[in-house]
Amino acid sequence: MISRKVEENLGKSSWIRKMFEEGAKLKAIHGDDKVYDFSIGNPYFEPPQAVVENLKAIVNDDIKGLHRYMANAGFQEVREKVAAAVSESTKHPIPFNNVVMTVGAAGALNVCLKTLLNPGEEVVLFAPYFVEYIFYIQNHGGESVIAQTDKKTFEPDMESFADSITSKTKAVIINSPNNPTGVIYSPETLQKMATIIKEKEAQFGTTIFVLSDEPYSVIRYDNVEIPHVFDYFDNVIIANSFSKSLGLAGERIGYLAVSGKSKNLELLMNGIVFANRTLGFVNAPAIFQKVIGDSVNDTVDVNLYLERRDLLYNHLASLGFECVKPQGAFYLFPKAPIEDDIEFVMKAKEFNLLLVPGTGFGCPGYFRLSYCIGIDTIENSKEAWTKLADYYNMNK
Ligand SMILES: Cc1ncc(COP(=O)(O)O)c(C=O)c1O
Repeated sequence: MISRKVEENLGKSSWIRKMFEEGAKLKAIHGDDKVYDFSIGNPYFEPPQAVVENLKAIVNDDIKGLHRYMANAGFQEVREKVAAAVSESTKHPIPFNNVVMTVGAAGALNVCLKTLLNPGEEVVLFAPYFVEYIFYIQNHGGESVIAQTDKKTFEPDMESFADSITSKTKAVIINSPNNPTGVIYSPETLQKMATIIKEKEAQFGTTIFVLSDEPYSVIRYDNVEIPHVFDYFDNVIIANSFSKSLGLAGERIGYLAVSGKSKNLELLMNGIVFANRTLGFVNAPAIFQKVIGDSVNDTVDVNLYLERRDLLYNHLASLGFECVKPQGAFYLFPKAPIEDDIEFVMKAKEFNLLLVPGTGFGCPGYFRLSYCIGIDTIENSKEAWTKLADYYNMNK
């Protein structure tokens, strides 16, 4: 009765959701404080007070016309403020015309893919990847092609990347800081990717877009600089949001920003605005566009995440778990002590630890932990981690 594709995808339903639901069941049995839920990347902290105050001021201001339809790309003055912020942080000035307000980064990615893809064209992803990409690409008739990362660093493997590009490649999605690994791609990585893209474009006579998915761009640690994609690629679109940077995931507010050096810029922007309209988004939520206009440079307190990263990473490392130390986002992606990550995650559940298998990110043998949770949950989980490590005779 429903679409075969949707029915098939339901069968593959997200491991993150699955574990989250398992968590709800366990909490009903053992109580909230006895279940250590590391499964979902839902912002734990409330938005900064400045955001709350901006929201109150906007709602109290009784702005005439605020709630009507608007230009599909969003309020011009908000696009101007976002363009100014992107220009400032990238040192590549872009006009407001290159910015479209979107329904989160997810909306931005879907808009880009709808605009770019012809049926059967390919989009390269790096494993481990955010699993929703597969469905977004499918939404617009594209095919996902999976390239590998170097498992010592989780940076893209260049040989695998070059091999994955064909005459049908239309785009590559990169995500740095990365979900699920927390890795920030180095300048050398981006430079090598740019060289490969140029070579392949020349070989096939094609144009390959980089879609840079950046919802974690402000969550970075240890003063690591995030190299900016505008410095490396010409045909590049940033998809960003305030879901993580301001803890506004439920408000569905984000933007896309297109490099001024992109080919056929005017046609591309017209396509993007058309796609934003006809995907049924019409425009990004009006009130939260206004809020963002006043809070574009605000962020959550990153030190709160840093404290959690250190606590959890240090405990797991002390127990013998192998893990690349994350430089950003709010996830750890350690190696499972056995080959079968699903079996490992099921065993961890017996210790009331809720984890997500790497299989759910196209990377078996690993597991993901989200540490945007209460610090007491991490503290209280330590004993369970130790018991789990003992079960597998780690550190012995
Ligand atoms: C890598 C990545 N991209 C995109 C999204 C979607 O973000 P948004 O809420 O802005 O749509 C998420 C959300 O978890 C994510 O982890």
